[in-house]
Amino acid sequence: MIRYDCLILGAGAAGMMCAAHAAARGARVLVLDHAKAPGEKIRISGGGRCNFTNLHAGPGNFLSENPHFAKSALARYTQWDFIDLVTRHGIGWHEKTLGQLFCDDKATRIVAMLVEEMRRAGAALRLQAPVADVAHGPEGFRVTLASGEVLGANAMVLATGGKSIPKMGATDFAHRVARGFGHRVTETRPGLVPLTLSGAVLEGLKPLAGLSVPVIATAGGAQFEEGLLVTHRGLSGPSILQISNYWREGDEIALNLLPGQDAVAALKALRTERGRKSVGNALATRLPARMAAHAAARAGLADNMADLSDRGLTRLAEALTDWRLTPAGTEGYRTAEVTLGGIATDGIDARSLESRHVPGLYMIGEAVDVTGWLGGFNFQWAWSSGWAAGSAI
Ligand code: FDA
Repeated sequence: MIRYDCLILGAGAAGMMCAAHAAARGARVLVLDHAKAPGEKIRISGGGRCNFTNLHAGPGNFLSENPHFAKSALARYTQWDFIDLVTRHGIGWHEKTLGQLFCDDKATRIVAMLVEEMRRAGAALRLQAPVADVAHGPEGFRVTLASGEVLGANAMVLATGGKSIPKMGATDFAHRVARGFGHRVTETRPGLVPLTLSGAVLEGLKPLAGLSVPVIATAGGAQFEEGLLVTHRGLSGPSILQISNYWREGDEIALNLLPGQDAVAALKALRTERGRKSVGNALATRLPARMAAHAAARAGLADNMADLSDRGLTRLAEALTDWRLTPAGTEGYRTAEVTLGGIATDGIDARSLESRHVPGLYMIGEAVDVTGWLGGFNFQWAWSSGWAAGSAI
């Protein structure tokens, strides 16, 4: 049996970060992954350019049963530390919007950077190596591979991520192993995911498919001002992905199609200036024409703008700024960017990410009940938690 100081299960964002840092501090490290290539989610992230962090990342951008849990790791390995690493590797980057940092070039540059960091530090990587069994005893951890080979280690890191995009090999492996070691796993559900609509609401919106508009979306006590995209199945775009983290089945969502505008004042101005136009056509000076026609129909207003009573105008303002919809569901793990929930934080030390039940067991990245907003926050959690565990091993 070959023995290591540390076996890391999962060569994703968190696992590779952890491996490079633990090995740089002198540990003999092996990273195992069942996939053909490391960092596959990094490769496809951010539309192929990887939104690798966010200038404004802080604990307030994360959801967890314990909102304080992520503070320690995020404070000790910050977005500035990761920006520094990326810059040292000569990878060009830019801010797209709202503090979101993307590679100028391909996301594979980030994967190559992490692989290079591991190589320099002496961490070994074994791909296409599915794990069949994991056990812990007085000798430490015993990991049996599907091939029958048995590996031993003093420390083991669960870094196999969450359940989103099963087509890419995502599994609940970390949750199952953690449960086996006495850890609680909180309720899990798809996050950063498009919402689906059904029935007449969906039929009414189908002609708008492909349309994108800025909105303020509200659900579950959270509010985001970003783009909305109408799809053939329902709603997507950054504002919807963001509120999907807060939305629960059966909840309503509210959309404001005129963010930052005084809707009543704007409509009064339209009534004066565009009185001879239909409500839909007048609104088309403020919104894409198809969205304007849809809003006028929702408010039941086919008249000319000049014929609009004050009551009708208020109804229209409401249809534009407080459009209520009850989604049928989400598109599920098939398209979700992340998994909400995961290994409960009360069983994990926030500073080291080490288990409170099993010494030497570490849990990092998306497998843990810490989920970020859209915008580079989830990778930042992977880097920060990976680094924190790597510093403790
Ligand atoms: P990650 O999923 O990266 O890695 C887990 C690894 O474990 C994988 O290599 C997998 O093959 C392996 N594994 C799984 N089960 C295993 C098993 N049973 N045995 C062995 N190995 C196993 N975030 C962000 O901040 N900015 C962005 O731009 C994006 N974009 C984005 C796009 C898309 C399409 C998705 C799906 C997700 C994103 N994300 C994102 C989220 C981000 O990808 C995610 O939060 C991190 O990759 C999580 O890092 P982890 O290392 O925890 O898991």
